[in-house]
Amino acid sequence: MDKLVIEGGLRLKGEVVISGSKNAVLPIMAATLLTDERCVINGVPDLRDVQTMTKILRSLGKTVEFNKGTITVAPNKHSSFVADYKLVSTMRASFCVLGPLLGKLKIAKVSLPGGCVIGVRPVDLHLKGIKALGASLNIESGYVVAKATQLKGSRIYLGGAYGSSVLATANVMMAATLAKGKTIIESAACEPEIIDLAEFLIKMGARIRGQGTPTLEIEGVRSLQGAMHTVIPDRIEAGTFMVAALITKGDILIKNVCYEHLGAVVDKLQEAGAFITTKDNALHICYKTRLKPINVTTLPYPGFPTDMQAQVMSLMAVTPGISIITEKIYPDRFIHVAELNRMGAHIQREGPHAIIEGVKELCGAPVMASDLRASASLVLAGLVAKGKTSVLRIYHLERGYEKLEKKLEKLGAKIYREKE
Ligand code: EPZ
Repeated sequence: MDKLVIEGGLRLKGEVVISGSKNAVLPIMAATLLTDERCVINGVPDLRDVQTMTKILRSLGKTVEFNKGTITVAPNKHSSFVADYKLVSTMRASFCVLGPLLGKLKIAKVSLPGGCVIGVRPVDLHLKGIKALGASLNIESGYVVAKATQLKGSRIYLGGAYGSSVLATANVMMAATLAKGKTIIESAACEPEIIDLAEFLIKMGARIRGQGTPTLEIEGVRSLQGAMHTVIPDRIEAGTFMVAALITKGDILIKNVCYEHLGAVVDKLQEAGAFITTKDNALHICYKTRLKPINVTTLPYPGFPTDMQAQVMSLMAVTPGISIITEKIYPDRFIHVAELNRMGAHIQREGPHAIIEGVKELCGAPVMASDLRASASLVLAGLVAKGKTSVLRIYHLERGYEKLEKKLEKLGAKIYREKE
């Protein structure tokens, strides 16, 4: 396994281009199961998770080619309705093949995804929605087996204890595109990635309204056609580089962003004292004066994204004063606290809250990556820590960040890969 070695203390300056959104492309790849025709997806990041979804689509009978950011998906001679445990257990997002498989083949057998370090990750809302469309559901040896002679549109409330569910909204919306009649999803997720998925489905011939609002309306159609689509930029990668600029007291032009997807992140970083401007599809962020501590609460979109929680924690770890981060989506998503404290941070966890007392300096150390965004927070901390930081098990990072060390190196970071 590889590790990333970072020598801290260098200011980042220059330009970086953001890749396509991981959390948009994964459900869009799953949506290609809804048609027997060829689909072309552009702006696809070369990520471990994209490779995993590619393997899953191939195991379900698709031919999938990935070439210079473009994925071409076409039907193969056979198609299967079984998404295997070995693949699904490595990536929770695989579960979003359930809806399209059921919609297209009227049968699906998908392994239940395991939990992960950020939480239990239940799928009760996915199953509630699929059932509401008329499918019969059985759990057999860790697999969900869903069947339906004909899915029927219905009104479904998809809100859970922690608000809306992104992938449950995706699963139910995809299944509903081929159901008979109208489906209304209440308390649907409003994330930009759901909007992007809906746009792709509409290009395939689906009839969807309300994407980006809590009420989605889907009028079922008989079949869907192939389509071409370019994926939106990754708002979490953009946010990660915004923090990289501030934590190193740098100045970065971040290109290929949708500024409107970053509202809550821009708001909070400006509150901390960042200078942020935007022009065309770029965002310029620079550090001008000492930052102030901030309080952050994660919420469903358009609230502050949980996927930016760990990154902002690293920034607040070196910002004088007391900051409080409250995690309302995954109350256990604090595995990065222990690792940051090993680097000299003063962070105390109190249930869903993390109380951060900013310190003058972090010290480089060997640290363990655990989940994608926690790993990013450790890299950010390494950029500012005194001395060398080694981030181990960086395959977690490779799941969701395309060429991260190359992009950071180009901005002036001293960062390189070594065998663990
Ligand atoms: C998506 O996961 C993202 N992943 C996650 O990003 C992101 O953290 C999450 O949305 C929240 O924004 C992808 O899009 C591939 P949820 P998802 O269902 O859809 C609870 C990353 O780092 N819930 O919106 O699986 C759940 O426990 C990843 O890129 C239920 O209770 O998340 C959580 O508390 C990590 N029942 C809340 O809802 C369900 O059936 C939101 O989860 C489903 C979810």
